[in-house]
Amino acid sequence: MRKRTGDHDSVEQKTDGNKTKVSLSAQPRPSPHLLWWFKRGLLAVCVIYVSVPFMMPLFPDIIKHLVYSHRVRVPFFVDHSQPADLSLNHTMNMYLTSEQGISLGVWHTVPERQWKEAQGKDLEWYQDSLGAGNPIIIYLHGNGGTRAASHRVGLINLLSAMDYHVLALDYRGFGDSTGEPTEVGITTDTLYLYQWVKARSGSSLVVLWGHSLGTGVATNTAVKLMEHAVTNRIKITATPTATKMCFRNCSESLRLTVHESDVSPCLYSLKRMRSPLLILHAEDDHVVPIHMAQQLYEIAQSAQNSENRVKMVPFARSLGYLHNGLYKDPHMPNIIGEFVHSLPP
Ligand SMILES: *[C@@H]1O[C@H](CO)[C@@H](O)[C@H](O)[C@H]1NC(C)=O
Ligand SMILES: *[C@@H]1O[C@H](CO)[C@@H](O)[C@H](O)[C@H]1NC(C)=O
Repeated sequence: MRKRTGDHDSVEQKTDGNKTKVSLSAQPRPSPHLLWWFKRGLLAVCVIYVSVPFMMPLFPDIIKHLVYSHRVRVPFFVDHSQPADLSLNHTMNMYLTSEQGISLGVWHTVPERQWKEAQGKDLEWYQDSLGAGNPIIIYLHGNGGTRAASHRVGLINLLSAMDYHVLALDYRGFGDSTGEPTEVGITTDTLYLYQWVKARSGSSLVVLWGHSLGTGVATNTAVKLMEHAVTNRIKITATPTATKMCFRNCSESLRLTVHESDVSPCLYSLKRMRSPLLILHAEDDHVVPIHMAQQLYEIAQSAQNSENRVKMVPFARSLGYLHNGLYKDPHMPNIIGEFVHSLPP
């Protein structure tokens, strides 16, 4: 660890008034592309955690911070269909239907060096660009506000400048997405987006990036994908608790409550995860104390029995990044680049 000082789905997509229907064949079980990864001996999921609240259940005093504040559509007065207003001029806004009646607002930002080429391009061009080989980051945001929040736009810009694609979604009930957020629902949304990307990404690397609440979503997604591949391929039946979410269904109260019984499924998921993992955390994070990230790091490392697959980079208190500011670190491109570069193709 180094320390840094310094059936048939129908997908509806709307962009600037264009409306196209894209039919995706239902994924029969087992899904062919999942099997393909498995045959290659690799679950093609890598996970980056930022400001990890994943182990919240162990730390009830922190729980009060973990509230889905999806109703507060911060920032106000932003038209999510016009990402160019936020200087994301190489970004396509689209809506995916993850489940009947659930429409998800998603931004697809292409690598910055293509910004000129991207002007005036349609959905098809954006979708085709996913298969060109650049790494693709699926960004899973935290519990407040929308994909347009300034620290999220800052991160999208950073990753795009690194020559990556970024797909940033608002889970159901957040931003301009419809529905109400639940644990199961937001993981369904993420799995859907992941599979949507995989159907278009060819051999490009796909990385899940979770921030805050999004780290739990990322883990659940990675474990679900792994179980899907494993149960279908080598017929190990996962116990039902393995797929239990780390965050309780909180559709009514919108407040996460945590019970003793939630702890072991959470740890169970974490221990089952077999994806390369990078943890980024600020020492002065006032929402999630750094010792929690440290514990997560230790648990994941011993579960995966590998120093190389699980990495953690803490950021010094003096840098003042708190819970949301890590994207400002000048070393971030190197840290992320090194991790992404180390991943198997
Ligand atoms: C579009 O975005 C790129 C990358 O952020 C930036 O360099 C460029 O100046 C922008 N162009 C316009 C016309 O806003
Ligand atoms: C939320 O939990 C309740 C029971 O705890 C369950 O009946 C309901 O179906 C859940 N909702 C979702 C969307 O998972």
